[in-house]
Amino acid sequence: MSVYELILKRRTIRKFRQDRIDRKILEKLVNAARFAPSGANLQPLKYVIVDEPEKVDAVFKHVRWAGYIAPEGNPREGETPVAYIIILNDPDIRKTGYELDAGAAAQNIMLTALEEGIGSCWLGSIDRDDIRRILNIPEKYVINTAIALGYPAESPVAEEENGSIKYYKDENGTLHVPKRKLEDIILKTDAQE
Ligand SMILES: Cc1cc2nc3c(=O)[nH]c(=O)nc-3n(C[C@H](O)[C@H](O)[C@H](O)COP(=O)(O)O)c2cc1C
Repeated sequence: MSVYELILKRRTIRKFRQDRIDRKILEKLVNAARFAPSGANLQPLKYVIVDEPEKVDAVFKHVRWAGYIAPEGNPREGETPVAYIIILNDPDIRKTGYELDAGAAAQNIMLTALEEGIGSCWLGSIDRDDIRRILNIPEKYVINTAIALGYPAESPVAEEENGSIKYYKDENGTLHVPKRKLEDIILKTDAQE
């Protein structure tokens, strides 16, 4: 599958099979992040791989899912992620302005995961203090976001936005994700008229 096809295929996954992910694959995902573009090539980001079941369960209690349809979008028991990658910033390398690096790194992780057949959900709504405590993350690191991972147990679909960008579940429980239309996001400036 081409990169473009993968990009179009990737959907946020919030229901997972309970098969564990090989540690080598998790390290490969971080390696994909390592090769992401980085402003001034400073590479200030660090990563914590969480795959020990007790830790994974503990982190789960401190992340929030699918705000538009809560609590319907929460993974149910037996559908929860089997691993997380936590994205950290090292302020000794860069104090501010690392968020764009984190975005590029996260997308590399999620696309490489998809290529491995693994679903992902990028999580910004997380209890950072609790996650720091559970994982013993040193105070100096800024906890940016987390990526939940696992083999998918749902198949969300993207569709053209038609009046609302809010994702929703249909009567079969399939998640629909409206994407703004191409013609609505390419601005025609004076120079092009
Ligand atoms: C920066 C960022 C933070 C996000 N945080 C959460 C979150 O806390 N919980 C969640 O369930 N989804 C979260 N998402 C996933 C979005 O809801 C999802 O990307 C969006 O609905 C579009 O769906 P798609 O990824 O399938 O295209 C986040 C996405 C981004 C980019």
